[in-house]
Amino acid sequence: MSTYLETTHNLYKEAALTPDVGLCCTTNPIWELPGLNIPKIMQEMNYGCGSTVHARDLTNNPKMLYVGVGGGMELLQFSYFNRQKGGVVGIDVVDEMLEASRKNFKKAEAENDWFKSEFVDLIKGDAMNLPVEDNSIDVAAQNCLFNIFKADDLKKAIEEMYRVLKPHGKLVMSDPTCEQPMNDTLRNDERLRALCLSGSLPIKDYVKALTDAGFGTIEIRARKPYRILDPKNYPTDELIYIESIEVAAIKDPMPEDGPCVFTGKAAIYYGSEAYFDDKKGHVLVKNQPLAICDKTAEALLALNRDDIYVSESTFHYDGGGCC
Ligand SMILES: C[S@@+](CC[C@H](N)C(=O)[O-])C[C@H]1O[C@@H](n2cnc3c(N)ncnc32)[C@H](O)[C@@H]1O
Repeated sequence: MSTYLETTHNLYKEAALTPDVGLCCTTNPIWELPGLNIPKIMQEMNYGCGSTVHARDLTNNPKMLYVGVGGGMELLQFSYFNRQKGGVVGIDVVDEMLEASRKNFKKAEAENDWFKSEFVDLIKGDAMNLPVEDNSIDVAAQNCLFNIFKADDLKKAIEEMYRVLKPHGKLVMSDPTCEQPMNDTLRNDERLRALCLSGSLPIKDYVKALTDAGFGTIEIRARKPYRILDPKNYPTDELIYIESIEVAAIKDPMPEDGPCVFTGKAAIYYGSEAYFDDKKGHVLVKNQPLAICDKTAEALLALNRDDIYVSESTFHYDGGGCC
C-alpha cells in the first residue's frame, strides 16, 4: 500500500474513534425531509464537502452503493428513498469507520420509525477494488474521498464505479476542486492530502478523469467555496482558494462526437421565427432558455448568429438539458 493511503487510513481511523467536527467543511445544510431525523453524532461525523443525495436520482427504489461511509449520514439519507433490506451497500476500508457507522445506524433506528439498520449493508472493501458485481448498481456515490487519490488510484477508483454501475446508472459525487496550481510540497504532504486539502484537481481535469473512464454524460450540479490555504498556515507563497463541486457522471454510451458535459450553460433564441432548429436534435423555442451541454454551446456559437444567446457556465445544472 502507498504510504499516503496508509496515512489516509490512519487519519480516518482516528476520525472514527474521535469524531472531528472540523475535519471537512460543507456549506450544505442537512437534509430536512418529513420524518427524517439525523442523529447528532452523524452530523458531527459529516466528513463530506457537499451533498450526493439528489431526490430526482432516487426514484423507483434504486439499488445504491456508497463508497467511504464516514459516520453514515448520507447512507441514512439514501435509505430514506429506498427503505428496503440491503437497498444501500456501504463500503469502507477502515474497520473503525464501519464500526462507528454501524453504531450510528442503531441510533438512527431509534430516532426514525421508518428506518432499520438492515436497510444498509456495510462491507469492508477498497474503492480501488470494489467487492461488488458488474452492472449491478443504479446509483453509486462518494463524497470527499476521490480527491485524496493520486492519478493512478483515482483512475482505478473511477473505473471500478463505472464497472459496477448498470447501463445509464449514475455516479454522484462531491469533491474539492482547485483551479490554481499547487506546489509539490503541498501535493506531497500526505496528511494534507488525506484531509482533502491538497489533492484536488481543476474541474476540467476532474471531468476528464470521468469521461476517460467512459461516462458519456456529466452534470456539474453545484460549485461552492470550500477552503483557503494561506501562507501563514500552509506551505504556500500564495493564497490558494479551494472550491467543492457536486457532479453526476452517467453511464450513457459515449457519443461519437465526445461526451455531453453540462456546466450550466443555456441558449436563448430571440430571432423572428417561432423557433430555431439546428437539425441536430436541438430546437430552441423563441425566448425560452434551453439548458445545453458545452459541446452544443460551442456548435451554436460557431454559427455566429445574431439571434442566439449562449450563456456562461453557471456550474448549477439540474436537468432538462439538450441531449
Ligand atoms: C473524507 S471521509 C468522507 C466520509 C463520508 N463520505 C462523508 O461525506 O461524511 C472519507 C471516507 O473514505 C474512507 N476511505 C478512505 N480510504 C478509502 C478507500 N481506499 N476505500 C474506501 N473507503 C476509504 C474513510 O474511512 C472515510 O470514511
